[in-house]
Amino acid sequence: MRLSARADQLRPSAIRRIAERAGTAKHPLIRLDIGEPDFPEPAVLSTIGNEIFAAGSSYLPTRGLPAFREALAQEFTTIIGTPIEADGVFVTAGASAALTAAVALFADAGDTVLIPSPGYPGYGMFASVLGAKTVGYALDPDDDWRPDLGQIEQGLRDGARAVVLNSPNNPTGSLITPADLQAIVELCRRFDAWVIADEVYHSIQFTGEVMNAYRHAPDRTIAVYSFSKTYSMTGFRIGIAIVPELLREKFSMLMLGAVSSVAQQAGLRVLETEADTLPMLAHYRDRQAVAADALAEHGLASWAPEGTFYRLIALPEGVVDAMDFAVALVDAGVATVPGPAFGELTGFGTRYVRLSLTRPDAEIREAIGIIARVARESTT
Ligand SMILES: Cc1ncc(COP(=O)(O)O)c(C=O)c1O
Repeated sequence: MRLSARADQLRPSAIRRIAERAGTAKHPLIRLDIGEPDFPEPAVLSTIGNEIFAAGSSYLPTRGLPAFREALAQEFTTIIGTPIEADGVFVTAGASAALTAAVALFADAGDTVLIPSPGYPGYGMFASVLGAKTVGYALDPDDDWRPDLGQIEQGLRDGARAVVLNSPNNPTGSLITPADLQAIVELCRRFDAWVIADEVYHSIQFTGEVMNAYRHAPDRTIAVYSFSKTYSMTGFRIGIAIVPELLREKFSMLMLGAVSSVAQQAGLRVLETEADTLPMLAHYRDRQAVAADALAEHGLASWAPEGTFYRLIALPEGVVDAMDFAVALVDAGVATVPGPAFGELTGFGTRYVRLSLTRPDAEIREAIGIIARVARESTT
């Protein structure tokens, strides 16, 4: 059976091993591995199905439903803090499709895109289906996970076509400061590269200034957002790209499949009725506090995130391999994601596991108790 060389090179992610073990487990398992929000979907969704289906459907503009793009333009004018025209708003099949299209716009096969390390594993997959490469720039665990600007500069000097910024970051929950953003934008200008700003967790930020890369560099940035985490609507597959004027025509040609009209109508109704994300923010802030208390009680160290519903737990001295530890945790009843899944730049990933705090408080407490027990057993 002959496949393309590109398909042959695709490799399963490190998460797969844990997900497979978790999926076939016969014992009760607390799933803290998946980034699936537990805040309820907007209530309006349960009442609008008939109305949306009765309206019928037809082919759509690939950029998105005009009324939805208008509403999004208004919403993002407020979020980004600069006027956003409907013409610059694209509705995509989740942030995933927006990120893939952005990479396709900037990178040829063999070109490099710089990505955060640790970072969301999707970046590597999106680039590799296009034949592009990713190179990590380190986030420093001892300095609030700040990006290594020297590595970004070196990567751009070596010809990287774009820099992916993710703030708040999955998995660290850390932010990019305005000063670092400014410095990275200037580097991109100097080396004629682009910024791909992944801001899908922008509404789950507890402190600091929201990155808003598009406001700072509207000529250089494609900014990516999503209804998946913002409105707990992962299955609707609604992503948003805010695209500079000179890129819009080409970007629209990369939109090979429009998002279903049913999803877009639903998204429009949510914006009209339930766009307030503050209750969701409070929900995850409280959940982080529950986790912090339980971790302190069990003497486990972690990094306090400034955003997202993730939390990295530092493995105690003596635990040498996060992957083996995560496998032992699944067998003991908790699924997590081991550090190596998020990039291997410094080998630091072997020293932590990521929890997704998207289960009820009682389960979070129970899971942390199990993790503490497995940690003790692994070090004695
Ligand atoms: C940082 C980051 N970017 C993008 C995505 C993909 O989001 P979507 O569901 O909108 O495709 C995720 C999903 O977990 C993510 O964590």
